[in-house]
Amino acid sequence: MCGIVGYIGRRDVAPLLLEGLQRLEYRGYDSAGIVITGKPSGKTPAALKMVKAKGRVRDLEARVPKRFAGTTGIAHTRWATHGAPSDENAHPHMDPEGKLALVHNGIIDNADELRAKLVAEGVEFASETDTEVLTHLIARSEAETLEERVRQALHLIEGTYGIAVLHSDFADRIVVARNGSPVVLGIGEKEMFVASDVAALVTHTRQVVTLDDGEMATLKADDFRTYTTEGTRTTASPTTVEWEAESYDMGGHDTYMHKEISEQPDAVDRVLRGRIDDRFSTVRLGGLNLDAREARAVRRVKILGCGTSYHAGLIGAQMIEELARIPADAEPASEFRYRNPVVDPDTLYVAVSQSGETYDVLAAVQELKRKGARVLGVVNVVGSAIARETDGGVYVHAGPEVCVVSTKCFTNTVVAFGLLALHLGRIRDLSVSDGKRLIEGLRKLPEQIREILELEPEIKKLAEEYANAKSMMFIGRVRGYPVALEASLKLKEISYIHAEAYPASELKHGPLALIEPAMPTVAIVPNDDLLEKNRAAMEEIKARSGRILAVAHQEQEKADHTIVVPKNEVELDPILMGIPLQILAYHTALALGRDIDKPRNLAKSVTVE
Ligand code: F6R
Repeated sequence: MCGIVGYIGRRDVAPLLLEGLQRLEYRGYDSAGIVITGKPSGKTPAALKMVKAKGRVRDLEARVPKRFAGTTGIAHTRWATHGAPSDENAHPHMDPEGKLALVHNGIIDNADELRAKLVAEGVEFASETDTEVLTHLIARSEAETLEERVRQALHLIEGTYGIAVLHSDFADRIVVARNGSPVVLGIGEKEMFVASDVAALVTHTRQVVTLDDGEMATLKADDFRTYTTEGTRTTASPTTVEWEAESYDMGGHDTYMHKEISEQPDAVDRVLRGRIDDRFSTVRLGGLNLDAREARAVRRVKILGCGTSYHAGLIGAQMIEELARIPADAEPASEFRYRNPVVDPDTLYVAVSQSGETYDVLAAVQELKRKGARVLGVVNVVGSAIARETDGGVYVHAGPEVCVVSTKCFTNTVVAFGLLALHLGRIRDLSVSDGKRLIEGLRKLPEQIREILELEPEIKKLAEEYANAKSMMFIGRVRGYPVALEASLKLKEISYIHAEAYPASELKHGPLALIEPAMPTVAIVPNDDLLEKNRAAMEEIKARSGRILAVAHQEQEKADHTIVVPKNEVELDPILMGIPLQILAYHTALALGRDIDKPRNLAKSVTVE
């Protein structure tokens, strides 16, 4: 999705902004642009200089002239919503006089209506974007200050935005505003940064201020102030970003996906750290904001997330139901928010999100809050919109995830759900011995993940063997089904091989018709009470000449190949069984020569509807 980066200070701004844009590349984009304020000469105010390009940041870089000096600027990576990817539609957008430039993330819902009005008043548009509407509205305001012009224009638009504005008549400042799309200020020594994502800032400063919805800020080189879109001053104290700048580097791996898969033992160690309470065979979750009495009063748990986070939520729901004996289910937040669901005061809602920005999840949380529900977050990015909107929750502590597809964050999210389930269980009726058993299981996870990572050469060979499949089936039963769903999503996202996931129990109700030698099946076969049933499903596939790759705790006779993973407690086994399938998807995509970190058509954070 779109990215914003801006700088005001004393350094040469263009290289800084281009580097910031490169750090935002992982979010997915199709064009980029940069505008800077040149030096004023005598009484002539500094003119704006702009370059835009369809394509990658390197295409933009190639167009930036040698002499492109300035110390203030804003830049953008665009992910097309209104109008195709093109130089014209790329941001920044300028007013016809070339005095004002704007970058925008989000969507202006009433853009068509406003555009028609402006056209009727004689305004000529240079692009098809909704953003240009806002540019003209600000430029046409006659208010005295830039802040007031921006404010007036924002009152005319409906929709979501994170914006940064530059004006040659007010060259000492950048004005920014946020409503539904993140804006983070980076506070430096006599220099200020702004970005839509801390990834673009952390190499320069780790002191940040995250704007709230409805908040604006004026950045000058040596100072900043924040205020609401109504003009009331707000107080904002900088916080320190936990993540190191190096966590955004590739660290010797060929891709971020590979790096992130291999970081999982340490990531899981982090999500467990300081949370296990051996004395009471439970876990401590500091930020939950749910006392024992409230936890006991919960009658139902509803988990909401999208994509991979939804799959983590499906496993989480099973863990909560099994360990805490509270009816629990997960639903895609993107569906939930559109179906006017019954919001029940005795239900605990849990919003899951790696980025903490996914618009569908955020909108579901806001709708729930409006209806008085209690909503917890299971979120990776500290201080993100969803983390801030929720009443409490569990941070996932996976560290930054740069690859578009989620791997380490999925695993850590499921572990975080394991902690939540154990916590709720021990408050309700999970025994001390079960508590101990699960704690031991949790502690074993990092080492067992290391063992799985050592299987990479074997999994790579299998991936090369299966990479010619046109389509693949993934099956699992009960705890294995969400693992199958996630593994199939991972494969299709990065290899573009069509994949279907089904509960193994549903095979004979339809999908068995698809089975033939050209459609291999990946079967999740844990050693649990359903082992025999899973073997029967494999038997049915074999009888139709289907090839089978099993992920299991022991060699499976019916399978053509088995990836044997270490056994943990049954409730925690799904955490481990997904990992070899991340590696399988990775090597399949590699064998097919795909752009693994940036799969086609996808973006890292889906901050629009
Ligand atoms: C898949 C993937 C997506 C995200 C989904 C939700 O690999 O990464 O399906 O899981 O877009 O994103 P978050 O977790 O940031 O809310």
